[in-house]
Amino acid sequence: MINSIIKLFKRYSWFKRVNAKVTYELLAKYIPAKDWEFMNYGYFPKSNDPPLTLGKDSKPPCYSTQMYHFLATKVPIAGKDVVEIGSGRGGGANYIAKHLNPNNYIGIDLAQNAVDLANKNYSLPNLTFLQGSAEAIPLPDQSVDVVLNVESCHSYGSVPLFLNEVKRVLKPGGHFLMVDFRNSQENMLILKNELSASKLELREQEDISTNVVQAIEADDETKRKRIEAFVPKRWQKLFSDFAGVVGSRFHLTLKEGTRTYWRFHLVKVE
Ligand SMILES: C[S@@+](CC[C@H](N)C(=O)[O-])C[C@H]1O[C@@H](n2cnc3c(N)ncnc32)[C@H](O)[C@@H]1O
Repeated sequence: MINSIIKLFKRYSWFKRVNAKVTYELLAKYIPAKDWEFMNYGYFPKSNDPPLTLGKDSKPPCYSTQMYHFLATKVPIAGKDVVEIGSGRGGGANYIAKHLNPNNYIGIDLAQNAVDLANKNYSLPNLTFLQGSAEAIPLPDQSVDVVLNVESCHSYGSVPLFLNEVKRVLKPGGHFLMVDFRNSQENMLILKNELSASKLELREQEDISTNVVQAIEADDETKRKRIEAFVPKRWQKLFSDFAGVVGSRFHLTLKEGTRTYWRFHLVKVE
């Protein structure tokens, strides 16, 4: 019942904005666990993807880190000014700032609580987190080499407004790297049309739904253990669906192909 009402209201931009703000503020406030660093469904690498190797003392990379690595290594990051819109709890930003050596990495998120959590948990000289909206990015024109966006724009009030902002903050020749899902083929087509209309040049697009399904399946046991450890009992069922455990609506629809998950690479040419 509640799900059907939310689905109905999600047609309205104002509702999508309020829904994203409230959801992610509450998640960061009530589940501040440091061990929960990511909020994307993960990526199971193909054999020809660039390998991810961390230092000897590091934990093995999780599938959510693999998603960031897969996306960010499509362009040179070392020495660049990078911005991530929708940086969430900051795990991906921390991974890139630490291991791919950007000059500067700014993570921006709508949820102040998520930004506070990320600033508390990660401290590197080239890394900052700021509160702000994708639809009004708090940065000057032509100040950024690379904009990253991981599983975030499905919840924006207006994707065209976001793309205008990406174009505004990118330097000429700058890159926009994005991964996200849509809950139907039709809605993915809308996203592709919005990207085509953005006046950014499309360089690559790729359906990565299978890799995300594989990551969800490979990560299921770990995810369930975390939910048990971090989420209050009465919210565990709802949260498991949101987190996309095996057998959840997210997992099943992605596996059967109703829902799709894509990667995009666009460039500001003018
Ligand atoms: C599914 S989480 C992904 C977080 C992170 N990219 C990751 O992979 O761990 C989506 C994030 O987008 C943020 N978000 C939603 N709407 C936003 C907006 N209009 N502007 C900036 N961030 C937004 C949410 O607060 C949330 O942290």
